[in-house]
Amino acid sequence: MSKIGIFFGPLKGSTNKVAEKVKTALGDAAVLVPVKNATVADLEKFDKIIFGISTVGKDTWDSEFSSNEWAKFLPEISKVDYTGKTVAIFGLGDHITYTQNFVDFMGSLGKELINNNANVVGKVSTEGYEFDASEAVIDGQFIGLPLDEDFEPELTEERLSSWLQKIKPEFGL
Ligand SMILES: Cc1cc2nc3c(=O)[nH]c(=O)nc-3n(C[C@H](O)[C@H](O)[C@H](O)COP(=O)(O)O)c2cc1C
Repeated sequence: MSKIGIFFGPLKGSTNKVAEKVKTALGDAAVLVPVKNATVADLEKFDKIIFGISTVGKDTWDSEFSSNEWAKFLPEISKVDYTGKTVAIFGLGDHITYTQNFVDFMGSLGKELINNNANVVGKVSTEGYEFDASEAVIDGQFIGLPLDEDFEPELTEERLSSWLQKIKPEFGL
């Protein structure tokens, strides 16, 4: 059976921590791929992909954090045709401090994938989340799983495990 690639970044923070939890839950069916040094060729190897991304603010991404791992990898995303590929996304954010931009980058990534013909699974209802605005809400639901390790870490396990139960059959598990 083909493996699931868990493409995640940045290294060492909350996204990394959650990516490891996803890998532990999926076991041998999945491999971790840090986006730091990943390329189009790495993406093309997988028909099943889980993306993990955090939102660190558009201004910082464009300026002093221009070396951000995802800022470098995002152009690679758009070079791939995802026809026949199943993808799911989880996104780390902070619903208190950044309530106007909650998990925005998950939305940017999701839109890019949809434009490139991906079958995006694992959309999540906004019920149970408090925030003012989010680019990750597409057609009334989150395009992936929002997680807030800064202000709601106690909810991560439950949110993650119910999301994984939902997406597993989509990945043939
Ligand atoms: C400079 C900065 C900007 C941030 N901007 C946002 C934001 O716009 N929206 C959001 O939901 N979270 C924002 N956050 C919160 C992070 O997404 C959150 O802390 C996340 O868990 C970081 O994950 P990481 O450690 O994997 O990078 C920001 C954090 C920092 C430090």
